[in-house]
Amino acid sequence: MNILEISHLIKTYGKGDNLVKAVDDVSFSVPEGQFLAIVGASGSGKSTLLHMIGGVDNPTKGDIIIDGENISKYNSDKLAVFRREKVGIIYQFYNLIPVLNVSENITLPCDLGNKKVDQEYLKDLIETLGLTDRVKNLPNQLSGGQQQRVAIGRALFNHPKIILADEPTGNLDKKSSDEIVNLLKTANQKYHQTVILVTHDANIAAQADRIITFEDGKIISDKLQHEAPAPAPAPAPAPTPAPAARPTDTTKPTEAEEIAELEEIEREVEAENESSNAA
Ligand SMILES: Nc1ncnc2c1ncn2[C@@H]1O[C@H](COP(=O)(O)OP(=O)(O)O)[C@@H](O)[C@H]1O
Ligand SMILES: [Mg+2]
Repeated sequence: MNILEISHLIKTYGKGDNLVKAVDDVSFSVPEGQFLAIVGASGSGKSTLLHMIGGVDNPTKGDIIIDGENISKYNSDKLAVFRREKVGIIYQFYNLIPVLNVSENITLPCDLGNKKVDQEYLKDLIETLGLTDRVKNLPNQLSGGQQQRVAIGRALFNHPKIILADEPTGNLDKKSSDEIVNLLKTANQKYHQTVILVTHDANIAAQADRIITFEDGKIISDKLQHEAPAPAPAPAPAPTPAPAARPTDTTKPTEAEEIAELEEIEREVEAENESSNAA
């Protein structure tokens, strides 16, 4: 089964003489469980593609079908819900919320979706990430590699169908970079999650099941290196959404207010990340 089907996808920016075809009539599909690397020179459209798959940005034209859902014409509210439930996104600059500790950053998508946190899974995930002795630390008290591991934890926490990683090792030394790639492989093999990884690093790309190369917004090569392993048995269903108990202390902000505030912080961090990526 294909977890992702992209057909005739186009994204343009600007008009007239300033028109940029960032993604120029791209079509491909990705079977569930594949570990796909996307490579290509800077400016070839890799991030633009990933943003559209992740529901961060709308296509100009064409279709994106994820897990049977055509998201290409979703408005921003529908995309926000889709993003929270179906995809996990990892950026080069971590994008963590500075005022939340390790554990709170990881459970953020769950908190925003007003779901009950599965404490056992949280503990297991934090252990897999090697962050057990860091749970109460804030992002600025962590190394780059540790911050990126938190970002991976946050991306994995909602059991997303697809993990999208945009040059997640671009800012890291070799050792941290290897750890990050190994964690993505673990997510792929242990939880059978589909991974789409944008990278500049040929050694990392060589470890993927398949490598797609971009040039000027188009696919110029698509190489299968090995088949993805056969699908694992269906994972246990995600815990049903259960609203947390209302605070009894009325001087505390309500849950809705807290969520609104977290969403505001998340938007600010995303905006900051976008400007630092553009720089
Ligand atoms: N918000 C934007 N406005 C205008 N042009 C953009 C925007 N985002 C990306 N582009 C342009 O689209 C092209 C592809 O960019 P991008 O997807 O970031 O490439 P990559 O990730 O492969 O380096 C580049 O020419 C870039 O300048
Ligand atoms: Mg990019």
